Amino acid sequence: MSEVTVRRLTDLATLVSLSKRRGFVFQSSEIYGGLSSCWDYGPLGSQLKLNVKQAWWRAMTRRREICGIDAAILMHPTVWKASGHVDGFSDPLVDCKDCKTRFRADNTESYLNHQKCPNCGSKNLSEPRQFNLMFKTHMGPVEDQGSVIYLRPETAQGHFVNFQNCQVTTRYKIPFGIAAIGKSFRNEITPGNFIFRTREFEQMEMQYFVKPGTDEKWFDTWKELRFCFYKKYGFRMENLRFHPHGPTELAHYAKAAVDVQYLFPIGWSELEGIHNRSDFDLTQHSKFSGKNLEYFDEANKEKFVPYVIETAVGCDRLVLAFLCDAYREEVTKDDKGQEDIRVVLGLHPELAPVKVAVLPLSKKEELTNIAEKLRDDLSLDMEAEYDESASIGKRYRRQDEIGTPFCVTVDFETLNDQAVTVRHRDTMKQERVAISQLTQYLQAKMKEF
Ligand code: GAP
Repeated sequence: MSEVTVRRLTDLATLVSLSKRRGFVFQSSEIYGGLSSCWDYGPLGSQLKLNVKQAWWRAMTRRREICGIDAAILMHPTVWKASGHVDGFSDPLVDCKDCKTRFRADNTESYLNHQKCPNCGSKNLSEPRQFNLMFKTHMGPVEDQGSVIYLRPETAQGHFVNFQNCQVTTRYKIPFGIAAIGKSFRNEITPGNFIFRTREFEQMEMQYFVKPGTDEKWFDTWKELRFCFYKKYGFRMENLRFHPHGPTELAHYAKAAVDVQYLFPIGWSELEGIHNRSDFDLTQHSKFSGKNLEYFDEANKEKFVPYVIETAVGCDRLVLAFLCDAYREEVTKDDKGQEDIRVVLGLHPELAPVKVAVLPLSKKEELTNIAEKLRDDLSLDMEAEYDESASIGKRYRRQDEIGTPFCVTVDFETLNDQAVTVRHRDTMKQERVAISQLTQYLQAKMKEF
């Protein structure tokens, strides 16, 4: 066999195209021409996203000291005054008076260095003005100032306002954490790069409440734990790094912060934020609600407002990172120099939207009956797909491209030996396995990753 060269993803366009073709992600409202920067997850994408959420949820809530919540998107408007979002959650916006482009002044190279429009190069620009990123709407039938309400720009505030509810009901002692997964909304000035930055997105956030003075230690611990998570799910570690925030980058609530950055095809960019939020949020909520949010440490008979270490990752951005990292093209050349390209998504089996595909070698009923029943039996324990169309080689390739770790072929020998051929995505090796042992065999192999 000729040598295999591996090509990695170099542009997002390849992934956007695969996502649409195979049903991972579609443009939102596509039949109406689409809605800018909004995306829908298709049959495979929604399962992949669910698997990513479950992996994160397990990593958090199966710890002894972390519970989960599912808080409402709409919150009391004073929450956002207390949190600082009404006054401080804004980006500097500049208008080009010639081409009418609006852009963010703080991360636009041509503006920062040359005071020029990034679109047309004009210097005829407005003064920067602060643009609040929160989406506003109205609660109830009357649209007046008193009914203004916001779509949450982060899930974190749901954790803070439920700090006491969770502590009392779980009887946790500090340190303990609260985790949540949910939609957040930001009226971003420059969304884009597929699902990297959108106006509606899902966050997976965890707030870890600690005794003041132990916060720096816990900050380091959570940096390590989050890196372990990425390693466990097979990220190529050379594509991940920490980026500590300098004083000008820190969010209004943060005492210290570090980004986990991933090397996306658009360059090194934030994947997750880990923040030391100090006692900022609980102190603010005490002040604005009038409720005492101190914690009583029974062992030492002392009261204090806990510090908070936050881990915050966008689910959509993590899905994108997993897809980018998993994508590879295995290229072989024949004697005439003709290239054969095998596209593989090397997803961790826990994340792969389909775990096993059952493929009858022919469409003869004696095989399809067995294969269909086998798919149904396997699907009691894992996501299983059935495919009988096209040659077996083409069907393998289809599964490789969506990250299916195993293909199971039912052939005429199966009628005699009640066994099937299992083909492995990454090595393409094949093994004969008894049907009666198949579920256990696949489950064991998935654990080996
Ligand atoms: N509670 C803290 C917080 O929200 P953040 O750094 O603003 O911190 C956390 O957001 C994570 O949420 C980011 O690292 C990113 O993964 C994701 N995120 C933020 N804005 C996003 C957007 N417009 N589109 C997609 N994901 C976004």
